Amino acid sequence: MAVNNVKGTRDIIGEEANAFNYIENLLKQICELFAYNEVRPPVMEYSELFVRGVGESSDVVRKEMYTFLDKGERSITLRPEFTAGIMRLIIQNKLLNTNELPFKAYYVGPVFRYERPQLGRYRQFTQFGVEAVGNNSPEIDVETIVLAYTILNSLNLENVSIKINTLGDDESRENYKKALKQYFEKYLDQMCPDCHSRYELNPLRILDCKVPEDQKIVEGAPKMKDFLSENAKNRFNKVLSLLDDLSIPYVVDDTLVRGLDYYSETVYEFHYTSKNGTNYGAIGAGGHYDKLVAELGGPNAAGVGFSFGVDRLYSVLRDDDLLETGLDNPVEIYVMPMGELAKPLALQVAAELRVSGYRTDMCFEDVKLGNMFKRAERKGASFAIIIGENEVNNQEVIIKNMETTVQVNCPLEKLIETISKEMGDECCGDGCQCHCKEN
Ligand code: HAM
Repeated sequence: MAVNNVKGTRDIIGEEANAFNYIENLLKQICELFAYNEVRPPVMEYSELFVRGVGESSDVVRKEMYTFLDKGERSITLRPEFTAGIMRLIIQNKLLNTNELPFKAYYVGPVFRYERPQLGRYRQFTQFGVEAVGNNSPEIDVETIVLAYTILNSLNLENVSIKINTLGDDESRENYKKALKQYFEKYLDQMCPDCHSRYELNPLRILDCKVPEDQKIVEGAPKMKDFLSENAKNRFNKVLSLLDDLSIPYVVDDTLVRGLDYYSETVYEFHYTSKNGTNYGAIGAGGHYDKLVAELGGPNAAGVGFSFGVDRLYSVLRDDDLLETGLDNPVEIYVMPMGELAKPLALQVAAELRVSGYRTDMCFEDVKLGNMFKRAERKGASFAIIIGENEVNNQEVIIKNMETTVQVNCPLEKLIETISKEMGDECCGDGCQCHCKEN
C-alpha cells in the first residue's frame, strides 16, 4: 500500500507552487523597500523557548506543539510560530548591541501546529512575517501596519479589514484580568474544562474560547477599554491618529485579544472575505510585545511584528482571480532530439541556451516528432529545436518558430545569435541585456 502525506499537510505543486513563489517574492521586495532584512532561524528549537515565549496559557503551547525528545533526550519543538525563535536569534547573536535600532527582520518558512484540519487551517503551513525590535514607539507599531497594508495593496487585495485593539500596559492588563476573574467566577461551573485552566493561568484566554455556550457568557464580560491606564490610552490614541494621518482604514475591535501570551499594547489582525463569500480566518495578525525579549533572557527591549499565513493569502488570491500576473512561467525553447545519437548534442544545446538565459526544456522520451511538438505547445514554447542524425553529422540544428511554423537550419556556432534575433533580442551594444553572445 502506498504511503500518504501526514494528516493536515499538503503537497504544493505546479501553479500553486508558482503562486507561492510569486507571493513570497513580492512580500520580500516590499519588506526590503521598508529596510527589513531576511533572517532564517532553524525550524526546530528547544521546547522551553515556546513555553516561555508564547506562554503556558496559550492553546498553541498547551495543545498544538509538535514536541519530541531527540536521541539525546532533549525536548525539541517544531516551531509553531516564528516570533519566539526570532527573539532567541536576536538575543543569542547580540543583535541589539548596536545604535542602529530597531533591528528589523523578515522571515518566511513552514510552521507546525497540531490543530483540527479544516478550511484554511493546516498542521503545516507557511508564515511570512516581520519583527522590529528595540524601539517602543507608537510610530514603529504604525510602520508595521503600513508595511502589511502596502503588501495587501500590492497583492490587489482590496477591502481588507484591519482590526485593531490595545491590550494596554502591565497595569491595565492586571486590573483587567482581576475584573475578568471576578466576572467569570460566577459562570465557571457552566464553562468548558479548558476555560477552567484558562481561568487559573490567564483569564484573557477565555475571551478566545470557541465553545458557543461559553461565547455567550464572554459577550457580557468586562471590556479592556474600561481598564486602560492613561498612558495606555494615550499610546493607543497616538497609534490611531498616525493611521488616520496616513489614511489607513481600520476598525477598533475591543474583543480582539490574540491567542499568544506575549502581546501588550497594540494588537491587530487582517481579515478578508473572498468574493464567493469564503472566509479562511485571519490572513495575518500581529502586535506589540514589551516583555518577550527580557522573558527569554535578553535585555529590556520592546518589539512589534506580524505574520501572514501564506496559504490563506494564496487561497483568497486564487478565489478572486488575482494571480494571473504571477503565474506565467512558460518554457521559451523546447529541444527535441530524434533518436539516441542526437541526445548528447541536445543536452549540449540546452545547456548553451540556458547559459544565455533562455528558459529551456528538452524531451527525454523516445516519442514521435508530432508528439514532441504537442509537448512543446503545451509547455508554451516559442521555439522548438529539432536535432536528428543529419543535424548531428552537419553540426547544426533546425529552429522552428512555433507561432509562424517557419523553420530554419542553423549552424551550431550561430545558435545563440539566431535565437536572439528570432526572439527580437537584437544586440544594441555595450551593457545591453540581450542574450546575444557578442554582447
Ligand atoms: P498567529 O495569529 O498565530 O500569529 O498566526 C499568524 C497567521 O498565520 C494567521 O493570521 C493565519 O493567517 C496563519 N495561520 C495560523 N494558523 C494557521 C493554520 N493552522 N493553517 C494555516 N494558516 C494559519 C502568530 O503566529 C504571531 N507570531 C504573529 C506575530 C508576529 N506577532 C508578532 N509578530
